Amino acid sequence: MSEKTNDLVRLNRLDAGVVELVIDRPEALNALNIQVLLSLKAALETLASDASVRVILLRGAGEKAFVAGADIREMQTMGRSDAAQFSRLGHSVCLLLESMPKVTVAAVHGFALGGGTELALACDFILASEKAQFGLPEVGLGVIPGFGGTIRLARTLGLARAKELVFSGERIGASEAVQLGLVRKALPQDGFFDEVRKQAAKIARNSLSAVSAAKSLMNEFEETSGVHPKVDAEIQRFSSLFGTHDQKEGMVAFSEKRSARFEGL
Ligand code: CAA
Repeated sequence: MSEKTNDLVRLNRLDAGVVELVIDRPEALNALNIQVLLSLKAALETLASDASVRVILLRGAGEKAFVAGADIREMQTMGRSDAAQFSRLGHSVCLLLESMPKVTVAAVHGFALGGGTELALACDFILASEKAQFGLPEVGLGVIPGFGGTIRLARTLGLARAKELVFSGERIGASEAVQLGLVRKALPQDGFFDEVRKQAAKIARNSLSAVSAAKSLMNEFEETSGVHPKVDAEIQRFSSLFGTHDQKEGMVAFSEKRSARFEGL
C-alpha cells in the first residue's frame, strides 16, 4: 500500500511492520530542500509513535540517486540565519533517524552525496547496491557538511580517513565503501530493493522491544561523544560560511554547470 504523505515523500507499508519512506523528487536527484526535510521530519515523527512500525527503509525515487545532497539552488541565496535554520532542520531529521525506537536503514542504490551521505550515516546502518556512490563534496561548494556528516563519518571511518574524504570532496563507490567499513557488503543492483526488503523483514521478525533496547544502549555513547554535543558548533560553522565569496561562487558555479573559482574569502 502506498500513501502519499505529500508530493515529496511517499510511504509504502510492506508486510510485518516494514515501511519504505521514499524521497520522491527524482528530477532533482532527490535533493533535500526545506519542504522535503519538513516532510521527512513529519513522517518520521508519525512513524516513531506508530506501534505497527518496526523497520523504516529510507530510499530515493528514480534510477540514479538516493539523495544528491541538500538543494544547492535553494541554498544559493540563503544568508547566515537561513543557513543556520536549514542546518538545524537537517540535524533534527538525522537525530530522529538515529534515535527513534525503530530500526532505520538507508537503502542506497545510486548517488548519496553531501546531505545524502549524511542522512544515510544517521540511519542505524546502510545497505548499498554496487552502483552506490558516497561522498561529502561540500568544500567544492564553499561550505561544509551541515547535517552532522563530518562527525558521523569520523566515527565510522576514523578521523584521518574521514578528513581525507571531507577535505578532498572525493566520491567513493560501493566497493571502497565496503573496504572502509561504511557498508558491510555491496548488493547486486538487479533486485536490490527486493533484497533490502527481505533483510528488513528478517529484522522485523525479532522482538522490537529487544531491538530498540539494544539501539538505545548502543546510542548512549553518542550522547557524550557523538553528534549531540556538537550540533550547535556545527550549525555555527556551517552558517558562518554563508554570504562569503566562496559560498556564493561555489553555488552559482554549480547552477551554471562550471568549475568554481575560489579565493579563500
Ligand atoms: N541540489 C539541487 N539540484 C540538484 C542537486 C542538488 N544537490 N543535485 C542534482 N541536482 C539537479 C541538477 O541541477 C539537475 O537539474 P537540471 O536538470 O535542472 O539541470 C538534475 O538534478 C540532474 O542532475 P545532473 O544533470 O547534474 O546529473 P548528472 O548525472 O550529470 O550528475 C551528480 C549527478 C554528480 C550527483 C550531480 O548532480 C552533482 O554533483 N550534484 C550535486 C552533489 C553535491 O554537491 N551535493 C552536496 C550538496 S551541499 C550539502 O549537501 C550541504 C549540507 O550538508 C547541508
